[in-house]
Amino acid sequence: MGGYDQEFIESLREGDLNHILHPFTKLKDHNQQGPRIITKAEGVKVEDIEGNSLFDGLSGLWNVNIGHHQLEVADAVREQMGTLEYAPSFFGYSNIPAIKLAEKVASLLPGSLNRVMFTCGGSESNESNLKMARYYFKLKGQPEKIKIVSRNQAYHGVSMGALSATGIPLFWEMFEPLLPGFVHIPSPYCYRCEFQKEYPSCDMECAHELDKVIQEEGPETVAAFIAEPVIGAGGVIAPPDEYFPIIREICDKHDVLFIADEVITGFGRTGKMFGMDNWGVVPDMVSIAKGITSGYIPLGAAVIKDEMYETFLEKTPEGMPFLHGFTYNGHPVACAAGLKNIEIIERDGLVENAAEVGAHLQAQLQELSDVSIVGEVRGMGMMSAIELVDDKETKEHFEPLGAPGLQVANKSWQKGLLTRAIGDTLALAPPLTCTKEDIDQICNIFRESLEETDKEVRG
Ligand SMILES: Cc1ncc(COP(=O)(O)O)c(C=O)c1O
Repeated sequence: MGGYDQEFIESLREGDLNHILHPFTKLKDHNQQGPRIITKAEGVKVEDIEGNSLFDGLSGLWNVNIGHHQLEVADAVREQMGTLEYAPSFFGYSNIPAIKLAEKVASLLPGSLNRVMFTCGGSESNESNLKMARYYFKLKGQPEKIKIVSRNQAYHGVSMGALSATGIPLFWEMFEPLLPGFVHIPSPYCYRCEFQKEYPSCDMECAHELDKVIQEEGPETVAAFIAEPVIGAGGVIAPPDEYFPIIREICDKHDVLFIADEVITGFGRTGKMFGMDNWGVVPDMVSIAKGITSGYIPLGAAVIKDEMYETFLEKTPEGMPFLHGFTYNGHPVACAAGLKNIEIIERDGLVENAAEVGAHLQAQLQELSDVSIVGEVRGMGMMSAIELVDDKETKEHFEPLGAPGLQVANKSWQKGLLTRAIGDTLALAPPLTCTKEDIDQICNIFRESLEETDKEVRG
C-alpha cells in the first residue's frame, strides 16, 4: 500500500480533481480516472501511492538523465540554499554557481557557443533564442530579417513564440492566431515522407526544402531556422546523417542563424553530450533545459556564439540595456544543482552509457517489429519510439487514432512500465543510468503490452 491509508489517498484524489489543472491531459478522462500519484523514486524506477514500482520509461519528461534520488544533488541544493538562496542576474548582479555553470556549459558546447543566458525551462530558452536572433539582425541594420523557419512535427514549447515554431497543429489550433513570421517545412520523417520519396534516392529533399523556402520568403526576411537534433515529442524522429550538414550549409549561404533545440537531446540523451555532436555540426545558438539539472530543479539556458554577443556589446545603442530576461535567470540553487548534475554525468560516464546501453535499447526494440501492429521502430541512443499502424504495408493509421497507443501505455503501466503514447506512437526514453538488464525487462513488458493489444485490436 505504499504506507498511505485509503482515506488519505482518497482525500488526495479529491484535492487533485478539485484543484489541479493538468497540462497535456484529457480533462474528461482525468476526471473519471483520477490522478496517478507518484510518491517516491529511486534509480530508474518510480513508486506510486499504492506502492506499485514502475520503470520510469520516460525519465520523468525526458529529463531525469542521471536517474532518481541522487542525493548528491540534494546536498548541493541544501548547501546553496543555506548560503545564498536567490540573487538576481538583472542589472549586472551575478553569483558563484551561475558563473561556474555558465563556464561549464560553454566548455561542453562546440565552437564559440560561449555566452549563456539562463532560463527556467525549454520554452523560455527557445523564446530567448528567437528574440535574440531578431535582436542581432536589428543591431546589424537588417530589421526586416525577422522570420523563423521550423519544421512539421517539431516541438519547441508552449509560449507564443515557441508555440508558433512548433510544427504540431493540434497543439496550437485552440490558441491561434500564431505569431506572424513563422514558416514550417517538412521534417526528415522518412517513414511518412511528405514528398512521397524514399531515402536515400530522395536526395534529401526535405533538407533542400529549407533553401527553397528561404529563397521564396526572401533571405533578407529570414532570421533563423530552429530544429531539434532528434525530434522528441513529435514522435522521436532522427534525421539521416547528411541532413544537418546540408542544413548548416543552407543557413550559412543565406546568413540565417541556426538554432539547435537541444532541450531533450542535450546532456547525453542521444549517446553524445549534445545531439548535434552526432554530426559534428556547430549551431549559432543552442536551447537547453531538462538534462541540465536532470529535472531536480527547473533550469534552462539559451546559448549564443561569440560573434552574436560581440554584436550585442558593440552595437546596442549607447545607454540602452539588453532588455530581455526573467526574474529567475541564473538562479543560484538551480545552477548549483546543474553543476552537480553535470559532474555526475561526466564522473559516471553516463554519455558513454547512453551510447552503449542505448544501442542495446534500439536493438531490443527492433525485435518487436514482428508484432502486427508495429509499423516502425526508431530512435537514437536513449530515445526511441514505436509507431503503431493498422496496416504494415500501407502504413494506414488506426481509426480512431490513439486508442491502441493508449491501450499499450495503460497495459505497460499495469505491468510496471511508465511510457507515453503520442497518438499511436509510444515513446521510450529511460534514464541514462539504465543497465542492459533494465532495458531487457523494459522491453519484455513492452512486448507483452503490445502483443495483448495486438490480439485485442485484431479481435
Ligand atoms: C525539444 C523541446 N523544446 C522545448 C520544450 C519545452 O520545454 P519546457 O516544457 O521546459 O518549456 C520541450 C519540452 O518537452 C522540448 O521537448
